[in-house]
Amino acid sequence: MKRLTRSLALSAAAALSFGLAACGDDDESSPASGTTGSEAAELTVYSGRDEELVAPLFERFETETGTKLSVRYGDTAELAATIREEGENSPADVFFGQDAGALGALDKDGLLAKLPAAALDPVAQEFRSANDTWVGTSGRARVLAYDSRELKEADLPASVLDLTGPEWKGKIGWAPTNASFQAFVTALRKVEGDDVAEQWLKDMDANGAKAYEKNGLVRDAIANGEIQAGLINHYYVLDAASSEGDDYPVKLHFFPGGDTGALVNVAGGGVLKSSEQQEAAASLLTFLLADEQQKFFVDETFEYPLAGDTAAPAGIPAIDSIEQPDVDLADLDDLAGTLELIEKSGVL
Ligand SMILES: [Fe+2]
Repeated sequence: MKRLTRSLALSAAAALSFGLAACGDDDESSPASGTTGSEAAELTVYSGRDEELVAPLFERFETETGTKLSVRYGDTAELAATIREEGENSPADVFFGQDAGALGALDKDGLLAKLPAAALDPVAQEFRSANDTWVGTSGRARVLAYDSRELKEADLPASVLDLTGPEWKGKIGWAPTNASFQAFVTALRKVEGDDVAEQWLKDMDANGAKAYEKNGLVRDAIANGEIQAGLINHYYVLDAASSEGDDYPVKLHFFPGGDTGALVNVAGGGVLKSSEQQEAAASLLTFLLADEQQKFFVDETFEYPLAGDTAAPAGIPAIDSIEQPDVDLADLDDLAGTLELIEKSGVL
C-alpha cells in the first residue's frame, strides 16, 4: 500500500508538470456504489490519453475499487484502429479516446456496448453517443488564440472561413498534423462539404498559414510575436496563462453563431461489447464523471467539466454558451477521409 501511495504521489507530480498534455483521453469512472462485487476484477484499458495525465486517476480508481487496471497507452486513432483489427478478440475492456471521432468509429463498427444510465445521465446529450455507447468525460473547445497586443476582439473574424482573407496573410498559425485540428476539418467537411473544406485548406495555405508541429507551439509563436493568431484548443492558452499571469498576451476568441471553428470535442470512453466485465468496465467511466475526477481535469488540463457541479476553468465562456456547429460528434469518425483531403489540398 505504501508503494502504491508513493507511486500515486509521483504520478501526480508528473501529471502536474505535464499538465499541458491534455491531448490524451480521459476516462475513468467511479462505481456509484462501491465495488459492486468486482474486487477481483482486472480490466484492460486502451488509453489514448497520456500516461502522465491519467495514471494518477487510474491508480485512484484501483485504490477505491480494488479493480486492477492493465493500461495500454498510445495514440487515440491508432488504438481505435487496433481494436477494429482485433475485433471480438480484443483484450480491451474499455477504450479512452481523445476525440469523439475514434469513439464514433468503434460504435459504427458495432464494437461498443450500451452503457448503463449511471455512465450516461451525468452528461448532456450533445457530448455523448446518441446510441448510448460512449460518453464524453471532458470538453475541449476549438478557438482562435490571438495576440492581444496586436488585435482586439472586435478585429477578429466571425468565422474560421474568413481567415483566408488578405488581412490575415502570413499572420495565422495552425497544426495540421494535430488530431484536434483534424477532427475540426472532419467537422468542416460535414457542415460545409468536402469541396469547401478542401478549398479552405488550399486558401489557408496560399494565405501563408504557418504550420507548427503542435498546438502548444502555435500558442508560443503567438506569444513571441511570430504570428498574430492561431487555431488551437482552448486549454493550451489557459495553461500558459496560469503560470505567466495576467500579462500573458495570448487571449481566446470563440467563433460565434455555431461556426465550425468553435467546435467543442470531447475526450471520452466506451466499453467494448466483447468485454466479459461490462459492469466493472462501465464503472470506470462513471468514476471519471464523478466530481473529484471532473475537478482533476479542470485543475490539471483546463478542460471543460462535463458532469456534476464542477466549475469550468476561470476566464472562458460557459460550455453551453458556445453555440455548436450542426454536426453530431459521433459523425466525426472519418479520419482517413480527412487525412486524404488534407494531403490532397497540399497542406501535408
Ligand atoms: Fe491537446
